[in-house]
Amino acid sequence: MKLTDKVAVVTGAASGMGKQIAILYAREGAKVVVSDLNIDGANQTVEEIKGAGGTAFAIQTNVADEADIQTLIDATVEKYGTVDILVNNAGIMDNFEPIGDIEDEKWDRVFAVNTKSVMRATRKVLPIFLAKQQGIIVNIASAGGLYGARAGAAYTASKHAVVGLTKNTAFMYAEQGIRCNAIAPGAVETNISSTMTNINQFGISRQQLGMAINPRTGSANEIAKVALFLGSDDSSFVNGTVVSADAGWSAY
Ligand SMILES: NC(=O)c1ccc[n+]([C@@H]2O[C@H](COP(=O)([O-])OP(=O)(O)OC[C@H]3O[C@@H](n4cnc5c(N)ncnc54)[C@H](O)[C@@H]3O)[C@@H](O)[C@H]2O)c1
Repeated sequence: MKLTDKVAVVTGAASGMGKQIAILYAREGAKVVVSDLNIDGANQTVEEIKGAGGTAFAIQTNVADEADIQTLIDATVEKYGTVDILVNNAGIMDNFEPIGDIEDEKWDRVFAVNTKSVMRATRKVLPIFLAKQQGIIVNIASAGGLYGARAGAAYTASKHAVVGLTKNTAFMYAEQGIRCNAIAPGAVETNISSTMTNINQFGISRQQLGMAINPRTGSANEIAKVALFLGSDDSSFVNGTVVSADAGWSAY
């Protein structure tokens, strides 16, 4: 097992990639904190983990809320004594709006959930990581964090910012035993489309042009396997990078 007795916090772990990461980490021996806004879904993930003999607990967290981030990490330390791995996974889509159609409220919401949460959760675990000179951060960015039109302007900018945060964090703390990497998934079959409402028709017509060269969609479990690599010692020399997992979509 690759994560024996490691304590891993996974945000957005009620569904999609976060859920599969939580389940795989637990199967590899980690004690997993299953965090999500959707507490019923988080409890379901914990049931599945416990049913397979793993260790986990669920906690309701709105990653856009600083008090909730504090509670998440404090509750983890109270229950399991420390944090070893933080997976910043929770995220939402925009509605494919190009910049001409963005409303401030939507921009702020997308950044609060996709970007500011990553800064806040990382900031909160850092004293723990620095005290033991050890810790791993895995950020779920997106192909939209590396390329221009995988989504609308707000989502694209929010994920580009996650890539920047990943690299900055990695380099700043590289000599203190902390690693920070990101995954850039292509199109993955999850429930994220449920966060889209009132899709911008012009925006999606531009976005869809690139789908013609997408070899295939992926499963959440295929992303979880990348997160296991980045969350384990197998990637001990990997820091500050973004691993694309997209079947070659971005290789064109
Ligand atoms: N699905 C894709 O094609 C794709 C591609 C690239 C990147 N991503 C990224 O992957 C990550 C996971 O998304 P997914 O596709 O598994 O989606 P999903 O909708 O299946 O799961 C996301 C989870 O995050 C939770 N969440 C949403 N807002 C939250 C908040 N404010 N606080 C706490 N939890 C919240 C949801 O309740 C849900 O359980 C996201 O960061 C997303 O941007 C997804």
